[in-house]
Amino acid sequence: YEDPLDLMDEIDALKKEKDATLLAHFYIDGDIQDVADFTGDSLKLARDAVKVETSTIVFSGVHFMAESTKILSPEKTVLLPDLHAGCSLADSCQYEDLLQFQEKLRAEGRDFETVAYINTSAKVKSLCDWIVTSGNAREIIDRVPADKEILFVPDQHLGRYLQEVTGRQMILWPGSCMVHEIFSVQDLLRAKKNNPGSIVLAHPECPHSILEVSDFIGGTEKLRQYVMSIKEPGTFLIATEANMIHPLEKSAPQHTYLPVPGIMASSGETCACNRCPHMALNTLQKVRDCLKYGKPEIEWQPYFDKARDVLERSLLQ
Ligand code: 13P
Ligand code: SF4
Repeated sequence: YEDPLDLMDEIDALKKEKDATLLAHFYIDGDIQDVADFTGDSLKLARDAVKVETSTIVFSGVHFMAESTKILSPEKTVLLPDLHAGCSLADSCQYEDLLQFQEKLRAEGRDFETVAYINTSAKVKSLCDWIVTSGNAREIIDRVPADKEILFVPDQHLGRYLQEVTGRQMILWPGSCMVHEIFSVQDLLRAKKNNPGSIVLAHPECPHSILEVSDFIGGTEKLRQYVMSIKEPGTFLIATEANMIHPLEKSAPQHTYLPVPGIMASSGETCACNRCPHMALNTLQKVRDCLKYGKPEIEWQPYFDKARDVLERSLLQ
């Protein structure tokens, strides 16, 4: 056992010694967020990463995030504390399957552009025209010419939600996030009933059945901005990865935050099913080791060049 406070001190010292910057997504363990130089949603972190001046970036998140960082900053050493930190959404759309589907659509004479959620592998990104995050999806969809069809991959729930807010019909890939997929409407409704006046916040990766009983829908940064805009103390039911409560509590401590559906568990504690097992592979020990030994590292791949054009056009311009 290593004391978390000692590990945090060690990480701070190693960042200086190794000329490294630590980025952490809002779904990462709170201790790592506290010792990070930048925290945020996928869009903010992608933009922060290109401004980093140190020679090394440690990305405490999942593989597609570190990969995107390497693509946007090829000259940097980009480290990911655990290379096995994947994503069920990214896994649900494989390169060969997407290529085959696009070829089938083209053979049918369909005129379309492919819009990918950033939660995809770089290889899949290299087949796409646009990349969106939960933070910029609406404005990117508006950039797709009106006479083109849209093939949206891989999140069917985010895609369905975007159809609703943009009014654009889309061909949806049948992927989903293993964390947001499992929230139970019944548990959410019971939690709402047991907490009169509570406000339900949901990530658009949740299925329609959850979104339609939610009060506010947004990506993680949008959820954070929303609770900060409400000054009167309130109770919020959080239908997204439970570590999100950490930045919400730090940004707007006047409120009470209850994870969905964790509050229904007999212990009253956060239910393990609303934690992302991939994000959870990031531990303080692994962040320390990755700084100390300079690995695991994201290596440049031939298809990164193509993915870079799409990422730059979508996130940085
Ligand atoms: P955002 O933080 O961009 O909303 O992304 C959510 C997510 O599922 C990341 O894996
Ligand atoms: Fe992927 Fe869902 Fe985990 Fe985000 S929370 S990394 S979308 S599996």
